[in-house]
Amino acid sequence: MAEYEYETHEYDVVVVGAGGAGLRATLGMAEQGLRTACVTKVFPTRSHTVAAQGGIAASLSNMGPDNWQWHMYDTVKGSDWLGDTDAMEYLAREAPKAVYELEHYGVPFSRTEEGKIYQRPFGGHTTEFGEGPAVQRTCAAADRTGHAILHTLYGQSLKQKAEFYVEYFAIDLLMSEDGACQGVLCWKLDDGTMHVFAAKTVVLATGGYGRAYFSATSAHTCTGDGGGMVARAGLPLQDMEFVQFHPTGIYGSGCLITEGARGEGGYLTNSEGERFMERYAPQYKDLAPRDYVSRSMTMEIREGRGVGEHGDHIHLNLSHLPAEALHERLPGISESAKIFAGVDVTKEPIPVLPTVHYNMGGIPTNYWGEVLNPTESDPNAVVPGLMAVGEAGCASVHGANRLGSNSLIDLVVFGRAAAIRAGKTVDAASAVPAPRKAAIDKAFDRFDGLRNARGGTPTAELRNEMQRTMQEDAAVFRTAKTMAEGVEKMKAIAAKLDDLHVTDRSLVWNSDLMETLELTNLMPNALATIVGAEARKESRGAHAHEDHPTRDDENWRVHSIARVEGNEVVLSYRSVILDPLTTPDEGGIEPKRIAPKERTF
Ligand code: FUM
Repeated sequence: MAEYEYETHEYDVVVVGAGGAGLRATLGMAEQGLRTACVTKVFPTRSHTVAAQGGIAASLSNMGPDNWQWHMYDTVKGSDWLGDTDAMEYLAREAPKAVYELEHYGVPFSRTEEGKIYQRPFGGHTTEFGEGPAVQRTCAAADRTGHAILHTLYGQSLKQKAEFYVEYFAIDLLMSEDGACQGVLCWKLDDGTMHVFAAKTVVLATGGYGRAYFSATSAHTCTGDGGGMVARAGLPLQDMEFVQFHPTGIYGSGCLITEGARGEGGYLTNSEGERFMERYAPQYKDLAPRDYVSRSMTMEIREGRGVGEHGDHIHLNLSHLPAEALHERLPGISESAKIFAGVDVTKEPIPVLPTVHYNMGGIPTNYWGEVLNPTESDPNAVVPGLMAVGEAGCASVHGANRLGSNSLIDLVVFGRAAAIRAGKTVDAASAVPAPRKAAIDKAFDRFDGLRNARGGTPTAELRNEMQRTMQEDAAVFRTAKTMAEGVEKMKAIAAKLDDLHVTDRSLVWNSDLMETLELTNLMPNALATIVGAEARKESRGAHAHEDHPTRDDENWRVHSIARVEGNEVVLSYRSVILDPLTTPDEGGIEPKRIAPKERTF
């Protein structure tokens, strides 16, 4: 058994991760008088939310008629009817409140002439239950909205006396004998000390796992740490086969060019200079949802109408927009296009390509953020002491495809919801239970095994194999053949975790070991993704199966539940929640409005 000394910290709530969801949860918990710690592997304002550009969806009606029912309808249709209806209603209904709270906390939103929060159009956001024109629903702080939100929430959390543990890496959850979460074991990266955080509730806000792929808009820190810890605790992941490709990653670097660029009037063209989205989505064109636009771009390239020397990408045009508008509304992407593509957006198009951007799947939760461990007798069974919010979680509001700007609102609505729930369930007066010694020992053993790994496969080599396989075999379009091959390749790649070689054995700033721990988190996420994709014999949202090109509601309107055991993934399925929270008499949406139908734009 590995012997490590450690310090113990006791809190009512420990939040792991300091992006938008983690900080909103931290702030909310602290506001309610719960003793709250936020443990994060990067400095809070460097979390990946800082890269969110275009904005945050809420039906404020600042630019024209809008209401939460239209927002809910768009979210349901965007999800390709796989989202949970209660969670989608909660999101759309609470969104305006959550955005006004952000405004009052101090987020410096862009403004209209009358001083209201500026809102821009985004893909899939419409009026009149999908019958009317596109709506301006996405509240923006230029094209640096995530940056503005993150800095504000961090400042507010400090004001509320939340305690931050910065550059602490979470190794594993500490689970009781009877399946409750009692805390988390962490490694302090800058001095090598070890820390047990004992808590009445742990909130996982660790973000997505974009880095399971070779090219992603996600930061290199997006390594699915929450999903990895959950899988090792014997808990499931949900809907992992649904991976979003953002239509406009810069060709080559993958750096994000916000959908706000199309919201402000930008458009895509092929090698013939044609605005091809008019053919695929006659009503909403370049403002169709992301799965639609990414597939259309891929089809143009496949059919020989891609641009560039190799005909392998598409052009995003902004040069027809007034230079002042680009300067005021899109300064960040103008700079990114110059740095990463050498393009002056006032004169030339930006070369773009669909790039991995977001994971619709994650740790299953209800709409209060409580983690679920579905069983046959109770599909909504809650794991005591464990919550998950943001991209790490799957509430599920995005179903098979997320609408742009529904991510930032998901972070704040569900970060806030988790705090409201914890305010009711966590007893601030009770003692913090001591985590089980056997759980602490087990976590140290795993850590020590990796620290002393002396196999034949360097971490970077195995990570590269995983990323390239996922990129090739779990792509925008998928076939039965590529996915079956991908499953076999990924199982062999995951087996090589037992043959890792770590060179640096120190405990201080050991990036070799940290990247190895991250790889052990990415791997179960990647495995669950490809196995779930291979099993789903239909096309829905971001899962475009060429051998099963249509949606099959009769057999497949279900959430996949993946339990990862070593290199194997055991799949089961859970019903989609169909009932809204409120009836039409209470102001809720008419159920017939959100019944499944063909999804066209
Ligand atoms: O395009 C963007 O600005 C990204 C927004 C989002 O993913 O919600």
